[in-house]
Amino acid sequence: MRPFSQACENNKQPILEVLRAQLEGVDSLLELGSGTGQHARFFAEQLPWLRWQTSDLVQNLEGIEAWREGYPGDNLPPPLPLDVTWPDWGVEISPALFTANSLHIMPWTSVEALFSYLGVHAPAGNRLLVYGPFNYGGRYTSDSNARFDQWLAAQHPGGGIRDFEAVDSLAAAAGYRLLEDTAMPANNRLLAWQKSAA
Ligand SMILES: C[S@@+](CC[C@H](N)C(=O)[O-])C[C@H]1O[C@@H](n2cnc3c(N)ncnc32)[C@H](O)[C@@H]1O
Repeated sequence: MRPFSQACENNKQPILEVLRAQLEGVDSLLELGSGTGQHARFFAEQLPWLRWQTSDLVQNLEGIEAWREGYPGDNLPPPLPLDVTWPDWGVEISPALFTANSLHIMPWTSVEALFSYLGVHAPAGNRLLVYGPFNYGGRYTSDSNARFDQWLAAQHPGGGIRDFEAVDSLAAAAGYRLLEDTAMPANNRLLAWQKSAA
């Protein structure tokens, strides 16, 4: 059985437009927190020159594998078990990384672990693309995001909509510079950073 997310169906096309622009000339990408695997199947099909490596907590790999089943191309390898809090992710960091809707699900300490790992292990020039809702200047960007944050607090202890400035400061400490902050439908953002040379 393929797990299904309606949100992925709704946001995949607008995300694809940004990925196309941001990933020009990039040949491989590591996705963190691939979730259902729907995004990966769609993006790998639409960007066939790009090797799309999925990963997630071990309990999600079966669903991602179900979305991979029958995929006709060779740019969607089997998913990897990867928890961003692990001291060794067990995979070389690709020239690009993508993650959607994960920073508000994991506790803040895990967000810190993610950036600190990239600070040490990601190569110079690494492109980091993060999709999801963010607050700016300590404020929600919409009433629906405020309601979503309340829901997150109840469902995912330690989760919550992140402050853009706090995440950008973790990124800066890890050697990343913000390239673009794109407004997306439904009060989401797509943030693109690039790691500078050491
Ligand atoms: C809301 S889902 C988003 C899934 C998918 N990217 C999407 O947009 O539909 C959050 C994802 O983050 C993953 N996640 C949570 N904590 C994680 C961690 N410590 N390391 C890696 N992935 C994690 C979850 O397993 C889940 O797949």
